[in-house]
Amino acid sequence: MLKYIAYVSRQSHIITDRALKELLEEARNNNTASAITGMLIYFHGTFIQYIEGEEENVDWLYSKIAKDKRHQNITELDSGFNKERAFSDWSMAFKRLHKNEAFEILGYKDLETAQLFDNYQSPDEHPALNLLNNYVKNL
Ligand SMILES: Cc1cc2nc3c(=O)[nH]c(=O)nc-3n(C[C@H](O)[C@H](O)[C@H](O)COP(=O)(O)O)c2cc1C
Repeated sequence: MLKYIAYVSRQSHIITDRALKELLEEARNNNTASAITGMLIYFHGTFIQYIEGEEENVDWLYSKIAKDKRHQNITELDSGFNKERAFSDWSMAFKRLHKNEAFEILGYKDLETAQLFDNYQSPDEHPALNLLNNYVKNL
């Protein structure tokens, strides 16, 4: 079985396009080496990330990510096990999401980034996970 973890976090300072590119390059190189796949969404200073792979590798990566000073308020949204990968072709897919796209996906206006950190009864209803799931379908 493969483990997955999904989380949301807030950038700790403004991240330039160049810094974001470097972060992705680093992530993709490491992930290829440790057979991690997943998706990173960047939405108005908020990161939503899904990582999947062998349990040991995913837990190790998440512990590193959780300590990364480039973001804060890291909040786990969901974790569990799957037989197959959702992102088998992506060492780390990336999407910069704009407000109008989020509106189209979620069907309501004025998504505040704070809502992405809210606790929901069921992970299926979580707006951050809905944003992610939508991109799984579109890849
Ligand atoms: C939002 C965000 C997402 C990240 N995603 C990954 C990732 O998917 N894979 C990865 O190896 N590092 C990722 N990192 C970077 C790690 O936190 C860490 O800097 C990197 O794994 C290098 O750690 P090391 O120097 O201990 O090897 C991410 C960092 C941030 C801020």
